[in-house]
Amino acid sequence: MNNIAVVSGTTGVGKSSLAHNLAAMQAIRGQRVRGIGLDRQCTLSLWNGIDLDPDDGALYVGDVLQRKRRIKTGEVDDRGKPVKRPVHFADVEWQTPIPRYTLIPEARELEYDMLKIAQMGGCAEVLKTEVRDASPVDTNWFDTPGGANPLSLAALAAADWIIVVVCPTPKGVQIGETLQWIEEMQEDGKTQAELVGIVPNIVPAVREGGAYQDVMDQLNAPAEEGGYADMLLPAIRKQHYEITAFAMSRPLAAAFPRAEITADYEDLLKDLDRRGVTK
Ligand SMILES: Nc1ncnc2c1ncn2[C@@H]1O[C@H](COP(=O)(O)OP(=O)(O)OP(=O)(O)O)[C@@H](O)[C@H]1O
Ligand SMILES: [Mg+2]
Repeated sequence: MNNIAVVSGTTGVGKSSLAHNLAAMQAIRGQRVRGIGLDRQCTLSLWNGIDLDPDDGALYVGDVLQRKRRIKTGEVDDRGKPVKRPVHFADVEWQTPIPRYTLIPEARELEYDMLKIAQMGGCAEVLKTEVRDASPVDTNWFDTPGGANPLSLAALAAADWIIVVVCPTPKGVQIGETLQWIEEMQEDGKTQAELVGIVPNIVPAVREGGAYQDVMDQLNAPAEEGGYADMLLPAIRKQHYEITAFAMSRPLAAAFPRAEITADYEDLLKDLDRRGVTK
């Protein structure tokens, strides 16, 4: 079982898209995969057409992480009250529209949960245990919120592999800090995960301007020149197909199997296969 955390320093770089599309591609080719949504924006859940309201009693990943006792065991205590046990992954897992691809869904309440989770501590241990005890899959994909926060750190702790996503913007890429907190976690023994590399994502066509190209050149430069050439994974182009597929709640491989962006994801998946990350 491979556990992959998809992280980034800044938000909106296409982490959720990457996790979802690669998970779907693996499922389509016959592997069993699980998406684990950890973002209060619920992108991974919404991508899969799952929109939960905990006020209506829906269970979600936040219940698991906070070890909420919300499942009735069928027994009663001394005072006649129903005994409840903590919520586990198996209680909240959904089938997505793609066979072999399941999801641990998010809810907007994660926004408030975040603080409680930080105060409680131990969220990383809970996530590790849940992943270990859940029904076996080939790959668990953790879709994290951008930046260093309790949920991203828990995902890193529970992961075997880390993929960093960056997006070339005219302002450049803020990646040094991200690589630094990953390295610190590795040094402190808080994660055993290995950094697979950096995926340049939502990369504009060359004709869209020199500013983007400068950033790509900077990423492609060797380490001694301040670049990341030795860490780069295949890039994903910026294409409108992505937005359309998103609106249709369908992964690219199902919605636009012949689009260039789908081919980019296929190349990335092949590269990850070769490294033993998605095999
Ligand atoms: N290759 C691409 N080409 C064009 N648009 C893309 C591409 N990848 C992602 N997008 C779009 O960019 C937006 C941000 O993507 P996404 O939600 O995956 O980013 P994220 O890093 O998960 O964001 P957040 O940090 O907020 O969770 C979405 O509207 C998505 O459809
Ligand atoms: Mg996201």
